[in-house]
Amino acid sequence: MELVIKTLHGLEDCLADEIEELGGEKIKKLRRAVSCEGNLAFVYKANYNLRTALRILLPIHSFLAKNERELYDQIKSFDWSTHLELRQTFAIDNAITRDASIANSQFASLKMKDAIVDYFREKTGKRPSVNKDNPDLLLNLHGYKDQYTISIDSSGRTLNQRGYRKEGGHHAPLNEVLAAGLLKISEWNASIPLIDPMCGSGTIAIEAAMLGKGIPAQILRNDFGFMNWSNFNAILWNRVKMESTAKRGRTRINISASDIDNQNIKLVKGSTKILNLGQGFDIMKYDFLKLPPESKKGMIISNPPYGERIGGDGMVEFYGRIGDKLKKDFDGWDAWFLSSNFEALRAIRLRPSKKEILFNGPLECQFCKYEMYAGTEDLATT
Ligand SMILES: C[S@@+](CC[C@H](N)C(=O)[O-])C[C@H]1O[C@@H](n2cnc3c(N)ncnc32)[C@H](O)[C@@H]1O
Repeated sequence: MELVIKTLHGLEDCLADEIEELGGEKIKKLRRAVSCEGNLAFVYKANYNLRTALRILLPIHSFLAKNERELYDQIKSFDWSTHLELRQTFAIDNAITRDASIANSQFASLKMKDAIVDYFREKTGKRPSVNKDNPDLLLNLHGYKDQYTISIDSSGRTLNQRGYRKEGGHHAPLNEVLAAGLLKISEWNASIPLIDPMCGSGTIAIEAAMLGKGIPAQILRNDFGFMNWSNFNAILWNRVKMESTAKRGRTRINISASDIDNQNIKLVKGSTKILNLGQGFDIMKYDFLKLPPESKKGMIISNPPYGERIGGDGMVEFYGRIGDKLKKDFDGWDAWFLSSNFEALRAIRLRPSKKEILFNGPLECQFCKYEMYAGTEDLATT
């Protein structure tokens, strides 16, 4: 089967590497997606394990349509009976049209629904129902410059929803897929001590613990789109889960998550309990600027306030103090910060040795690496 696996901007390389490790074939990087080939077991395995994937799509119909009539006709002439039975429900999620003659994605999605319903009605006199919450078949429409692809969504809910967060948690949590991507870009592995000193709900540290210990990304989840398909193979699914969790090693981790706000500490504790993360994961309430100096070497990966949703004014001064803290107390460490506040990042006054452009929701961010070593140059003095 051909698969198109969606991800966030800038994480295409990370996702392609993950797919290769998992055994996907004919891997091709696309824009915010990676395509590959794999069998049904691979579809299950990819949904269960991939950390930087948002949804896994199976394209079934591609066509050209210059207007709504052509879109409707193309969809209605497709043989829907091979994918959907009358007694089954369907839904269309996340329709996107870009630079297409039909600019309104919602309208295109509505036309698609009408065409599918009319296909069945004309053939049988009856129509399948739409069920937006838990459809048997979740469909995806993607249009670019009048070229459309309809895919079956094998994931259902997006894969960033791992299940370790409680409702109503942090007000600016990082997308889990983005956090996993930060870890891959930084080339962190379980042998490196890791600190997130402004951890909020702890997404980066929790994703690191799961990665380090080889815990499948969806260990807590038991609802995927493919489970509603008529060909769902429970024996194969259980085998995929068993094989994936068997790889879960006894790797030791050395991860610290701290935050100035006690509420956030409670959130992190709640999530680590749900995941049963156990030893090697320290959670502390601390002001980063007062964190004791570190003797061992390691890595900081953090997502400080940007001054958008939290932090407000004073970010330039705050980042300046973060820079001072790094130079004073983290000799030998690598520090990575993700922020959309570029002026504040410059106030760290260290030259980044690497910089990646990523998006946190709609916010363009820089993910910058600072390497601290004795004699690290303070840009303020150069
Ligand atoms: C953008 S949020 C981090 C969100 C986090 N990545 C997540 O996934 O939930 C920034 C966090 O920095 C924390 N913070 C702000 N100033 C701090 C300080 N001086 N020391 C420690 N934490 C601080 C805030 O409480 C907030 O939770």
